[in-house]
Amino acid sequence: MEQPKVNPDLQDQLKKLQEKYAVMGQDLSSYLDGLLYSDYLTYWDYIHLDTLLSLQNPKTSFPDEQIFIIYHQITELYFRLIILELEQITSKESPEEKFFNERLSRINRYFRHLENSFDIMVRGMEREQFLKFRMSLLPASGFQSAQYRIIEFYATDYINLVAEKDRSTTSDQADVDQVLQRLYWRSGATELATGKKTLTLQQFEKKYLDEFRKLATTLSSKNLYQLYKKYFFGNQTIINSLREFDTLANVLWPLAHMKSAAHYLEKDPEDIKATGGTNWQKYLPPRFQRIIFYPELWAEQEKAEWGKAAFIRS
Ligand code: HEM
Repeated sequence: MEQPKVNPDLQDQLKKLQEKYAVMGQDLSSYLDGLLYSDYLTYWDYIHLDTLLSLQNPKTSFPDEQIFIIYHQITELYFRLIILELEQITSKESPEEKFFNERLSRINRYFRHLENSFDIMVRGMEREQFLKFRMSLLPASGFQSAQYRIIEFYATDYINLVAEKDRSTTSDQADVDQVLQRLYWRSGATELATGKKTLTLQQFEKKYLDEFRKLATTLSSKNLYQLYKKYFFGNQTIINSLREFDTLANVLWPLAHMKSAAHYLEKDPEDIKATGGTNWQKYLPPRFQRIIFYPELWAEQEKAEWGKAAFIRS
């Protein structure tokens, strides 16, 4: 009986596969058996859909708490996307302009999505429900987002993350420990009435400070600001992208976020004190924080007015 002919393309593929496995000392035939028995990949398995949808565990039965949880998770996933780009950029020996700028554009796109979608928080939950379920979540807070801080360490020299009041007295040569003591966010999440650190802040420092110290040290010579100065100094395309990143990360997202605090939380300082509330009104506004990743890329006037208006919209 005549044997059916094997398609030459298939023969060629088999030969290549055989060579691939032979290099590793592996037997192709066994792997083909594996292919025969394994199930087809499905969408739901590939993205772990069931696991993903099982990751919301509200602490109360208010329906809007799910929105609060899911939007935080969405934001953390976007932060993850941003960090993946930052890892790609900083792991290159010497990044090329096209690569650097394309990755930076991705980051800016992610941040723009985050800024635009914040209305899900500001207008998407019933205030009465929020005020109740938030009491079951204390002292947890988005303030404890480590990825948010990690993005900052990738973005700039750690000296640029020092609190505004300490900036003039912190030398450019200050070591990482001195600077970590004075990071701007270490004066956030403090009790308005007493000025003491909240448990929110204490727990965050305890869990992450060591990790932050290592990261800040590793990135001191290859954060985005250093890479710009080393490889792209004066390059207008890169300057525009970095300025956009600076604006999104330090003005536009913080303003979108702050709107939710203003919408939901007590605004009268006396009432805040009485309920053990934090200094968020003094801490959150970008015009008070004045964190600028790339100070040399802004004119004096723009820096003086930082946080009052957004300069870049592309
Ligand atoms: C109704 C929604 C929200 C309210 C009322 C709110 C409120 C606050 C407040 C008051 C603070 C200052 C820290 C404190 O005093 O406790 C804060 C910080 C913070 N929150 Fe939110 N937040 C909301 C949603 C979110 C979401 C969805 C995220 C996403 C991860 C987030 C991430 C952060 C971050 C990263 C900080 C630190 C900001 C900084 O250090 O400048 N927040 N939030």
